[in-house]
Amino acid sequence: MIRHTDILVIGSGVAALQLAHHISRDMNVIILTKSTLSNGNSSLAQGGIAAALDDKDQTFYHFIDTILAGRLINDHRAALMMTQEAPSLIRNLADQGCTFDYDSNHCLSLGNEGAHTHSRIVHGGGDQTGKVITNYLQTNLPDHVQIRENHFVFEILTNAQGRCYGVKSKDEEGDVHEFHAPHTVLATGGCGQLYASSSNAPTVTGDGIALAYLAGAELADMEFIQFHPTLLSLNEGPRGLISEAVRGEGAILIDSKGERIMETVHPLKELAPRHIVSQTIHQQRKKGREVFLDVRPIQNFQTKFPTVTKLCESNKVDVDLGFIPVSPGCHFSMGGVKTDRTGRTTIEGLYAVGEVACTGVHGANRLASNSLLEGLVFGRRLAKHLNLAPLDTVIPSGTITRRPPFSFPLPPKKEIQKRMMESVGIVRNGEQLMDQLLWLESFQIHEWNHYDFSLLTFEQMTRVLMLQTAWSITKSALEREESRGGHYRSDFPREEPVWLNKQTIRKKTIEMG
Ligand code: SIN
Repeated sequence: MIRHTDILVIGSGVAALQLAHHISRDMNVIILTKSTLSNGNSSLAQGGIAAALDDKDQTFYHFIDTILAGRLINDHRAALMMTQEAPSLIRNLADQGCTFDYDSNHCLSLGNEGAHTHSRIVHGGGDQTGKVITNYLQTNLPDHVQIRENHFVFEILTNAQGRCYGVKSKDEEGDVHEFHAPHTVLATGGCGQLYASSSNAPTVTGDGIALAYLAGAELADMEFIQFHPTLLSLNEGPRGLISEAVRGEGAILIDSKGERIMETVHPLKELAPRHIVSQTIHQQRKKGREVFLDVRPIQNFQTKFPTVTKLCESNKVDVDLGFIPVSPGCHFSMGGVKTDRTGRTTIEGLYAVGEVACTGVHGANRLASNSLLEGLVFGRRLAKHLNLAPLDTVIPSGTITRRPPFSFPLPPKKEIQKRMMESVGIVRNGEQLMDQLLWLESFQIHEWNHYDFSLLTFEQMTRVLMLQTAWSITKSALEREESRGGHYRSDFPREEPVWLNKQTIRKKTIEMG
C-alpha cells in the first residue's frame, strides 16, 4: 500500500523531532522509526548542549573552539551559524518549559567539557540532558505529525530523473510499505554500532548513510570517527558512557600506579580534545595498563551524575571508592551524507539532518556538546526551508525488477564490529585498511543496489547496511594519507597541509530508469 505525506522523516532523535516541531501546521509529517520513538542515541546523551551564555563568553569563542577541535577543516560558515544561533535557541527552549538545570542565582547552570575555553555546557537532570530534551520535544509534538514505529526503511525511492519521492519500509509483521512525499528527510543518526566498543544505542548502525549511498547520494568525510575517551570498561567489554562532564567537574585520568596520564600530553590535560585523550588511553591499554577516572575531587557526585552512578551501580562499580575503569569507544561520526547548510543532499527531494548529515560543521573532530546543538539548529533551519518549498507530486519510477537476496552468507554482526575496531579504529594504517577493504568487498557490496532487500529480515538488512557503511569509512580512511582529528594513521602520523582543502567523497554510479 502507498501512503502519501508532505514531509517524510526517517529517524526519531532530536534532529527529527526538532524538524517536526517547526514544520508549519498545514503540512502533514510522517516520522518512520525502525524501533520505538525514544530508542536511539539522543535520549542517551549525557553531557549537554554548548552555548555561549556566560557574561565572559562570546559566540565567537565558541566558534573558535569548534574550529580548533575540528582541526581547521570545518565549514566555517556552518560553524559560525551554529554557534551564533545557540544562545537564543537554548533561551527559547528554556522559556517554553524545557527543564534545564539552574544555579543558585536562577541562571542556567553551565558546566565545562573538553576543548572548551569557557564554561558553556547547558544540562538537564544532571547528566540526563538528552532525555530532558527528547521528552520535551516528544510531549509537545503537534497533531499534524504522525509517528510510525518499527518500520525498517530499506530503500530510498528515486525516479527516472534521479529525484527522490519517498522510501520503502518493512514492518514487524513483515509487510512492505511505500511512503511517497515531495520531501524526504534522513535523520537516522550515526554509525557507532559498527564498532565493538561503542557508546551508541544498539539501533545506531549507519543505515541512513548506507541507504543514501545506495540511492546515489554523495557521502563526505567518512574517515572521521570520534572515539569518546571514557566508556565504563569491564572485563567483558565496555558498558556505556561516563560523561566528559565528569572530567569537566574535576575528575582526573590515572593509571593503576596512580600516575596522571594526561599530565605531559596536552596543556588542557584531561580536557584536551577527545581524539588526543582517546589516543593516550588507547596507548596505555596497548601496553597492558588499565586506566581509571579518579572522581574523588568531585563533591556530590551521585547528585550531579545520576546516570553515571546508576550505570556504575548496575555493573558493580562502587563510585564511592572513587575509581571508575575506562576505555575509549566509538561515539560520533563527523562525516555522513553530504549536505549544504540547509540540509539538501545531492539528490533532489532528499535531505539529511543531525549526525547522519555532513554539513562540515564539525570538521575532523566534534567539540563536546555540539551534537544535540547540531540537531536543534539544523533541524529548525531545514524546517524553515521546507515550510516554503513547493509540495508538487513527484512522478514515481516504473517497477524495477530486482534480484532475490544474496546466495552467500553475511558475516555475523560481532565480526563486523571486531574487525572495524581493530582495522579502522583509533589508530589505523594502510595495510590493515586495505585488508579490511578487501574483506568487505568480498561480500559483493558493489552489486547490492540490484537486490531486493524486502525479502531480508530486519537483522539481515542491518548487517547488509552495516557492511556498506563500514566500506565507506574504510575506503575514505585509506584515501586520506594524513592524520587529523578523528582519523589517525600510524603510517601518516602528521597533519598534511595538502589535505586542508581536500575532502573524501563516496558516490555510487546509478543507472537511471
Ligand atoms: C558526554 O557527555 O561526554 C557526551 C556528550 C557529547 O558527546 O557531546
